[in-house]
Amino acid sequence: MLILGIESTCDETAAAVVRNGSEILGQETASSAEIHQRYGGVFPEMACRRHIDAILPVISSALEKANVTHQDISAIAVARGPGLIGALLIGLQAAKGLSIAWNKPLIGVNHVEAHLHAAMMQETPPLPALGFVLSGGHTLMLEISEIGNYRLLGTTVDDAIGEAFDKSATLLGLSYPGGPMLEQLALQGDPTKISFSPSRVKKNPLAFSFSGLKTAVLYAVKKSTPEDYPDIAASFQETAFIDLIRKARLALQSTPCKALVFGGGVCNNERLRALFQKHFPELPHYWPSAGLSSDNAAMIAGLGYHKFLATDGQGDPLDLEALPRTPFWNS
Ligand code: KG4
Ligand code: ZN
Repeated sequence: MLILGIESTCDETAAAVVRNGSEILGQETASSAEIHQRYGGVFPEMACRRHIDAILPVISSALEKANVTHQDISAIAVARGPGLIGALLIGLQAAKGLSIAWNKPLIGVNHVEAHLHAAMMQETPPLPALGFVLSGGHTLMLEISEIGNYRLLGTTVDDAIGEAFDKSATLLGLSYPGGPMLEQLALQGDPTKISFSPSRVKKNPLAFSFSGLKTAVLYAVKKSTPEDYPDIAASFQETAFIDLIRKARLALQSTPCKALVFGGGVCNNERLRALFQKHFPELPHYWPSAGLSSDNAAMIAGLGYHKFLATDGQGDPLDLEALPRTPFWNS
């Protein structure tokens, strides 16, 4: 079964063709990130204009790379949220238009659930698993009972972890999105040089908070010179990741899990992967394969396959709405 996935939630316009939920036959991505660098963050109107220009060429290219035509496609999966409303509507309208023109079922997919699913596309982990979504917009720790069945254990009360990386990177003079550059800068620094304290959320010991850490970076930058920046970057990164590890350990005490599953752009970070491997050698780890951590359409098609099966091949109605803020876990 071939699913065409479409992604346009933020600044990446992407399409992919995936066979049976796991085999990526072809994918294409157009990014408007270089425009947003000038503004230090995503400029929604600019992102939308680029989506409009890119959406159909990206879909054509993904089909071409997969060496298939629209006739071979079984269904069209599209990220319906969460994301920027204007950006979501462009992907959703394209998917609906093609669904009518090609007479193919439409499937709405949650973008953040797809991030979590990315590492499970090739192989389903032993369940239940402890899952993390670590992206520019989300910091989630969940119990995964099965695909489509999740329980939220902890989330951030302020900034998402990727957002904290990007804001700290800006303070360190790096351009947007600064996460990958901060990781590079940290390689030259000493993570024990500055003792940033991990924040605690009184009401929920499994909740995250990164805005205090970001403010601590601001004060550290103010009283240092650029030679100290690698140490600040390394210390910030280490503090943020050790916080995740502590909370994972705490969560596992009350929610025993058989595996760790990771998704979202921050999972590109090698230090994050190394620290989790070091602290949890007893559990199997599932990380997204190359290109599947950051926003992509293969994860949308991969999860779309399971959603399509769950509707017995019917898909969703054509009045499917974009949902800029939508949880995917059971409350
Ligand atoms: O999942 P993603 O591509 O988009 C969202 O759905 O948000 O995540 C983007 C976030 C950005 O904040 C970016 O700086 C961060 O992931 N990121 C990283 C790294 N690569 C991307 N953060 C830390 N280290 C990295 N290597
Ligand atoms: Zn994302």
